[in-house]
Amino acid sequence: MLEVTGLHVAYGGIQAVRSITFHVGAGETVALIGANGAGKSSTLKAIARVVDAAGGDIHFCAEKISRIAAHEVIRKGIALVPEGRGVFARLSVLENLRMGAYICDAAAEVAQDMETVFAYFPRLKERARQLAGTLSGGEQQMLAIGRALMSRPKMLLLDEPSMGLAPIMVQKIFEVVRAVAADGMTILLIEQNARLALQCSQRAYVMESGEIVLNGESAKLLDDPKVRAAYLGE
Ligand SMILES: Nc1ncnc2c1ncn2[C@@H]1O[C@H](COP(=O)(O)OP(=O)(O)OP(=O)(O)O)[C@@H](O)[C@H]1O
Ligand SMILES: [Mg+2]
Repeated sequence: MLEVTGLHVAYGGIQAVRSITFHVGAGETVALIGANGAGKSSTLKAIARVVDAAGGDIHFCAEKISRIAAHEVIRKGIALVPEGRGVFARLSVLENLRMGAYICDAAAEVAQDMETVFAYFPRLKERARQLAGTLSGGEQQMLAIGRALMSRPKMLLLDEPSMGLAPIMVQKIFEVVRAVAADGMTILLIEQNARLALQCSQRAYVMESGEIVLNGESAKLLDDPKVRAAYLGE
């Protein structure tokens, strides 16, 4: 479904991503793991066209998307949940969700999608009229994922959904990520919590200093002594 070939991302003189190649198949959950500054977010941002690629190609559903505008990427069916969430603090939960549905005009469909989001995150329904800025960090993460789902994506790009959250909330969020995946969503998951990412995905790529240094089935990587020593703190 997603094919990234020889992708480069640079900020001025800084090479953040150096010619990486990977793919995500329809219905797969694939993790991209690696230390701070490895280039994970830059990779996602290049796919979502929030930053320009300095080289390489990105294809989605056999169509080249490496030069189209960011809003076109959403229309093609890719929804990014950015690092730091980016919910609209001064809008309510409901209003935030409606913003996510802006590519859909049919009120009945929006209402139905909202019920789907509330089924995944009952907490958001309880807080529907609360301002997003007053939600807890975990609730904001739920809202960011819910808002992304409102665009009826074929694929979700999740940038560190666990960031800054207490373990219990991380568990809740990842239960929903698993449920969304089980319902057929294709997911590219970025995580610094390598163990969690490997437990939630079928395959994974490990990034270091802008390059992919390892890849394989997540279950095998979880058992690999080198991976355990370098990325799982064992
Ligand atoms: N807007 C920017 N301008 C300049 N340099 C940037 C910019 N964004 C990222 N970088 C640099 O690019 C490199 C990769 O950053 P990136 O955010 O992709 O890493 P990451 O793997 O997501 O890290 P983290 O786990 O800390 O989120 C880093 O060295 C970072 O300082
Ligand atoms: Mg990042």
